[in-house]
Amino acid sequence: MTNNPHPPKISVFPNKAELAQAAAEAFVEKARAAIEARGRFSVVLAGGGTPKDLHALVGSSPLKEQIEWSKVDVFFGDERFVPHDHEQSNYRQAFESLLKQLDSTQVTVYAVPTENISAEEAAKKYEKTLQDYFATKATPFDLVFLGIGPDGHTASLFPNHPLVTEENDELVQVIHDSPKPPATRLTLSFKSINAARDIIILAAGENKRAAMEGLLDQSVAIKDLPVKGIQTNEGTVCWYVDEALMGEELLKDLDL
Ligand code: 6PG
Repeated sequence: MTNNPHPPKISVFPNKAELAQAAAEAFVEKARAAIEARGRFSVVLAGGGTPKDLHALVGSSPLKEQIEWSKVDVFFGDERFVPHDHEQSNYRQAFESLLKQLDSTQVTVYAVPTENISAEEAAKKYEKTLQDYFATKATPFDLVFLGIGPDGHTASLFPNHPLVTEENDELVQVIHDSPKPPATRLTLSFKSINAARDIIILAAGENKRAAMEGLLDQSVAIKDLPVKGIQTNEGTVCWYVDEALMGEELLKDLDL
């Protein structure tokens, strides 16, 4: 992977609420386009806390009714290796903020298996789920949402970790030493994420400004800032950020 030759598209919103609204409207628009073009919409949800507002918006009126949920397939960008009802589970976060509101729809959810199985077996199982779904080793998800940490990690791809520094061909990977607890997680790989048609990176708050500065600094390598490794060949990568993350200086530098 080169050091992201294409400058990322950055959309700056006044606050988290307007960021979430814009991301929710993008969800609706991309769902409509995918269903119109291919009959189904495959979307990968981000973990952590940032997507909660977005999830609440697409799971309630008026946006909920604008999505043909019976033609939507939901996947997870990464998952903490805990039971789905555990407070640290990304499945639980998605269920509480979105999926429980879709009970009456026929949405299809492909959860990462985390019980009565080893993490390695779970990764193999989820990888097979993806391969069977796409009927190829590629994963052209219609839309992938990602968050980032202050250190520039995304999904569970952390700085200077072998999952980031070593070439690999897997679609789903296991980490046992995540610097962000819990230690054991499953994550889509760069290969899996970057095959997507569209990627939206959601990031808000001043505590993530250093990651944006690193993104814009050509001298910063992907191994030190994994989110820089998020780059699609044919698709688009767009950052949805708020003004608190950018700060006055970056906004001025980028003339945003
Ligand atoms: C996870 C996430 C992780 C998250 C970022 C941002 O499972 O923890 O996938 O990559 O998106 O750490 O988390 P917040 O949105 O809570 O800041």
